Formats: sequence, structure tokens, C-alpha cells
Amino acid sequence: MFSRVARRAFSTTKVNPYKVTVLGAGGGIGQPLSLLLKLNHKVTDLRLYDLKGAAGVAADLSHIPTNSVVKGFTPDQDKGLHKALENTDVVLIPAGVPRKPGMTRDDLFAINAGIVRDLAAAAAEAAPNAAILVISNPVNSTVPIVAEVLKSKGVYDPHKLFGVTTLDTIRASRFISEVANTDPTQEKVNVVGGHSGITIIPLISQTKHKNLPKDKKDALIHRIQFGGDEVVQAKNGAGSATLSMAQAGAKFANAVLAGLAGEREVIENSYVDSPLYKSDGIEFFASPVTLGVNGVEKIHSIGDISSEEEELLAKCKETLKKNIEKGVAFAKK
Ligand code: NAI
Repeated sequence: MFSRVARRAFSTTKVNPYKVTVLGAGGGIGQPLSLLLKLNHKVTDLRLYDLKGAAGVAADLSHIPTNSVVKGFTPDQDKGLHKALENTDVVLIPAGVPRKPGMTRDDLFAINAGIVRDLAAAAAEAAPNAAILVISNPVNSTVPIVAEVLKSKGVYDPHKLFGVTTLDTIRASRFISEVANTDPTQEKVNVVGGHSGITIIPLISQTKHKNLPKDKKDALIHRIQFGGDEVVQAKNGAGSATLSMAQAGAKFANAVLAGLAGEREVIENSYVDSPLYKSDGIEFFASPVTLGVNGVEKIHSIGDISSEEEELLAKCKETLKKNIEKGVAFAKK
């Protein structure tokens, strides 16, 4: 077995030998997310787990000539979940049910809370040092559930638990460019708070478009907060965002891996165990985070905000607090 350093020294291209596990890899997000991870040269060992379909997705992806080995794992395999997780570096969790038209993310709690709790318990045992990236909704509550499970197992590291809110930031880049008629690849919006409806706060005042007319700005903020509904309605019962979410998840996973690999100035927004509003009873909050060799290296404040954004923040905090408490109560039950 080569050590990390030795493997790097022997390789012709720079490879960071990371093990990555996707739980829910057979699903709408899981499949394209796994494809994007197969294309990521930082990943050398990709493990795919799902109640169904993971073996097929793994066999399919295994024919792509990149530097990773891909394996599928199923629950009917002896210790399938455990093997998928054993000593992995990063776990992505998109397992669970998506929304149908008319549903909020909170409506998914009844099913997804239990799925996420059980997967977190397995991760705590098989991969106690892994970074865990939670995609399953409602993220505002599923992340606190994972934290409680890890605490109960004595392996909670707040620097290594992330709620993936990257879809909100990529949507914000796209939507603001449509309003301002600019290049979306050059747009960056600091989206803070949580990951559902009014808890999503895009800080337009920090962009170069802060002087947009009020009606346009309000419509833009609403679209960023409720953009997921556009996809749910267009898919008409067949699920929610999967392809844009896969891109967002792969982007965030790449940032986490870059941090682990010692790259500098890796900053992404994420919903993490945060000191920012703990005095208001809010344990988790999304803001810019510097990622490093141990996960979260620094949590940045949200920066200066306008009086309108202060109002959005107050409403966000009210809802977020309840969402977090709901997750914690479930996990402690
Ligand atoms: P999907 O139904 O297409 O796929 C979910 C997969 O999870 C299925 O293949 C299913 O077999 C699997 N699964 C269910 N229970 C499992 C368990 N105990 N262990 C392993 N696998 C299990 O759903 P989709 O569209 O992929 O969405 C997944 C989740 O991601 C949903 O909760 C959705 O709300 C959420 N989501 C999150 C976003 C975010 O920005 N964080 C954006 C879009 C969706």
C-alpha cells in the first residue's frame, strides 16, 4: 500500500488520492453527481451506495478512463453500507425523497429525517473522520440531525459537517446575470442563512448590481429563494433539481477536497455549525467558509448588509431556529 506522499511522488500528473462515497448514488442527483466525481482527478476511490441501482451506475462509470476505481454497494451485500463508507475521506448524502409540486422542503422531513439519521450513524462507525456533505432536504434540519447522531457516537467534529447550499449560489449567479444582462460566470452573490424559501438570503447589496430598481431586486430575491419550485413544477411530479444540483454538489465537493489537499484561499458558502448567531439560539448558519486540511478553517461573517436585508435576516432566523430545533428533537427522540 503506498502512502499518500509516495503515490503523489510516483504519479505523472498531480493526483490527490481521496476516497469519496455517495449515499443515494442511484437517484436523480446521485447519478450525475457520481459522474462528475468520476471526472474529478482528486478522487481515486469512488464508492457508490443506494438501496437500488448503485451497482449499475458504478459499472457504467467504471469504463471512463480517469484515475479512480469505482465500486457499487448495496444493502443486500454483506456489510454493503459499511464497506462503502469504511475509512472514506468525504461522504456525500443525496439519499431520500425529492419534492413534488406543492410541497415545501419541510414536507420531506417525515421520510428523509430517518434516512439521514441512519446513514449518519453508519458513517459515524465506519468513517469517523470523514467530511460529511448533506444534500438531502430539508437541509436546515437534516444537518442538525447528523450533528446529533455524531455527538451521540462521540465522533462529532463541527469542522467536518456541511449542508450543501451551493445550488443557491449558482442559481443566484445565473439569475442575477439574466436581470443585469451580464456574463453569469463572472457573477458571484453571497447567499447566506439556510436552504429553503425565506431562509435563503442573497445579499444583492454586496454586488455591483445593488442599485437595481426595487421591483426588479425584489423579484430577483424571490426567484433565488424559490427557484427550486420552477424545476419542481416543470418536472411535474418527476422530482426536483437533479442536474444543476449535481453540478453544485460536485463543485462543493471539489472545494472540500481542495481544502483537504492543502490548497489555499478555498472559500465556498455552506451551512455549518457556526458561531455567528449562536447567541440568538441558532446553531447552524450558511455563510462563506474557508476550507482547509481539517475541513472548516474559518467561518466568515456575512459582511455589511442593507436595511432590507436586515429584515430578511430577522425572518430567516425565526424560521431557521425552528427548523434546527425540529431536527435536534427528532435525533434525540
Ligand atoms: P431521487 O428519489 O431521484 O433519489 C434518491 C435516491 O436515494 C434513490 O435512488 C433512493 O433509492 C435513495 N435512497 C433512499 N433511501 C436510501 C437509504 N436509506 N440509503 C441509500 N439510498 C437511499 O431523489 P433526488 O432528486 O436525487 O433528491 C435527493 C434528495 O436531495 C432529496 O431529499 C431532495 O430534496 C434533495 N435536494 C437537495 C438539494 C440541495 O440544494 N441541497 C437540491 C435538490 C434536491
